[in-house]
Amino acid sequence: MKTKVAPSILSADFGKLNEDIATIDDHSDYIHVDVMDGHFVPNLTFGAPVAKYIKSKNPLDVHLMIENPGNYIEDFAKAGADVLTVHYEAAHDLDGTLAKIREHGMKAGVSIKPATPVEVLEPYLKDLDWVLVMSVEPGFGGQSFMPNALEKISWLREKAPDLDIAVDGGINDKTGKQCVDAGANILIAGSYIFKAEDRVEAIESLKR
Ligand code: DX5
Ligand code: ZN
Repeated sequence: MKTKVAPSILSADFGKLNEDIATIDDHSDYIHVDVMDGHFVPNLTFGAPVAKYIKSKNPLDVHLMIENPGNYIEDFAKAGADVLTVHYEAAHDLDGTLAKIREHGMKAGVSIKPATPVEVLEPYLKDLDWVLVMSVEPGFGGQSFMPNALEKISWLREKAPDLDIAVDGGINDKTGKQCVDAGANILIAGSYIFKAEDRVEAIESLKR
């Protein structure tokens, strides 16, 4: 599978977000949008009213790190999300939530935190378009990659040869390669791309 790159705008300058996105848009495959509520994770970002102003020619991959994600599906569909990922640990009715995401025309994704065993996803694999393996504790950019993500990625790839498997947290050229070797096809990276002197080169290094 071809490796795709999703820059995470958490590390961009929110005061000139669309200008920052324009610096990487031509070289990206998705734009990764982190939504945090200060409850599920100890940090806050923004919701659908802000996400709707994001300008990109790429699909928006929205990562909901919020309680009760099922309550916000319609809002994010209207805001232009293409992939909507909820946390396994936060969704009360995961089957219903995934079905509702698809009914709203989006790809349905689930993410697991570092301490959550990947096997919990087995019953849902047939209803999933996308799995996001967290390789740091969700909440902040700039943390170090946790290698236990690699076994989770390999397990998923063996069970689901065609699944989109994304990995998020501490991704750089080295950890990104380990993830691709384990079976991931989407690399999400925030600080490695947005803090780089040459952002385009940083993206290209993830694809090599
Ligand atoms: C963290 C977010 C990530 C974050 C990754 O909770 O989900 O998307 O932006 O940042 P880096 O790539 O800097 O670890
Ligand atoms: Zn994220």
